[in-house]
Amino acid sequence: MVSYVVYGRGAFNQLDEIIAPHRKAGAPMIFLLDHFFEGRPLASRIPLRGNDKVIFADVTYEPKTTQVDALASQLKAEFGAISGVIGIGGGSVMDLAKAVSLMMNNPGSSADYQGWDLVKFPGVYKVGIPTLSGTGAEVSRTTVLTGPTRKLGMNSDFTPFDQIVLDPELTKDAPANQRFYTGMDCYIHCIESLTGTYLNEFSKSYGAKALDLCREVFLSGKEWTNEDDDKLMMASYAGGMSIAYSQVGVAHAVSYGLSYLLGTKHGIGNCIVMNHIGEYYPEGVVEFKKMVEQNHIDIPQGICANLSEEQFDTMMNVSLGMKPLWENALGKDWEAIMTREKLRELYGKL
Ligand SMILES: NC(=O)c1ccc[n+]([C@@H]2O[C@H](COP(=O)([O-])OP(=O)(O)OC[C@H]3O[C@@H](n4cnc5c(N)ncnc54)[C@H](O)[C@@H]3O)[C@@H](O)[C@H]2O)c1
Ligand SMILES: [Fe+2]
Repeated sequence: MVSYVVYGRGAFNQLDEIIAPHRKAGAPMIFLLDHFFEGRPLASRIPLRGNDKVIFADVTYEPKTTQVDALASQLKAEFGAISGVIGIGGGSVMDLAKAVSLMMNNPGSSADYQGWDLVKFPGVYKVGIPTLSGTGAEVSRTTVLTGPTRKLGMNSDFTPFDQIVLDPELTKDAPANQRFYTGMDCYIHCIESLTGTYLNEFSKSYGAKALDLCREVFLSGKEWTNEDDDKLMMASYAGGMSIAYSQVGVAHAVSYGLSYLLGTKHGIGNCIVMNHIGEYYPEGVVEFKKMVEQNHIDIPQGICANLSEEQFDTMMNVSLGMKPLWENALGKDWEAIMTREKLRELYGKL
């Protein structure tokens, strides 16, 4: 779990104090800032000291193992040792920050550690500061990376942040569509966790709270307010805690295939899939569609219309490789339920 959590509007202003005890002589703090903030006021509020460095992270594409390896090598070459990495942005930047922190202290390539409990050594001090709410990346024990052969996280006890700063003010300017797609990641985490076979009281407690908050913000029928940003940030936290002790399910397993082949982003990819999986989550999908309608969001259709059979095969291989997700969703006999034919048919509808 994350050891230190600060929550509140304006909490970003405490960052200098928060990180001060973790500074090591001569070793800089590295601020990985989402490129969206380049030239915007947040960039000039970063508490730089000594040889600290701001790196604008281009998240046009979701994080890749090659990008993580390049950043870690660059930092090792430039500074030798660093005091810490502070990721400020959406799920992509937070994941980059976690992975770079780990690769400062682990040999080889980040691709070697995609899987469960493969990371050998703790990373350098790492801080996560979300500017979008929903992924739960701020609390999870994974960092999702696209590698040479798969899209899979570095899941380990060393992966969670040492500190997070939850300041809902930072999400204020997110465009309504992006806010919805990332927010739905949280809603879908709740549905997948609460209906999954891995469910337990820990996950249920957090999942139920996150689900309530998602309903309050996405089904209110009112204009979006600061209070909604406050609530969605806590929903993301609770939703992340919920899956920490269970798993995600069908929407994620299918959406990983889209993302691997087509580069479809996580939030929107989950929404594209969620639109078509009423068979597995009947109530969740009805409510999801209501949220889409009330918030006037467009969910793309027909993104697999022109794909070859070989491409469908690639997506299916990635998707069926996510065994824990399928087992959580459909039980131990999932392979008899989600056959390749069934999955091919589902991808065909997207
Ligand atoms: N580690 C985990 O547990 C976990 C869980 C779910 C998803 N993820 C990962 O998170 C990523 C998706 O994250 P996301 O949905 O937060 O989106 P994102 O981080 O990919 O960002 C989406 C877009 O929004 C922009 N953006 C960020 N903050 C903004 C703001 N305040 N205002 C305006 N624009 C802003 C970014 O520049 C980017 O263009 C994927 O890479 C996914 O794999 C990780
Ligand atoms: Fe997710």
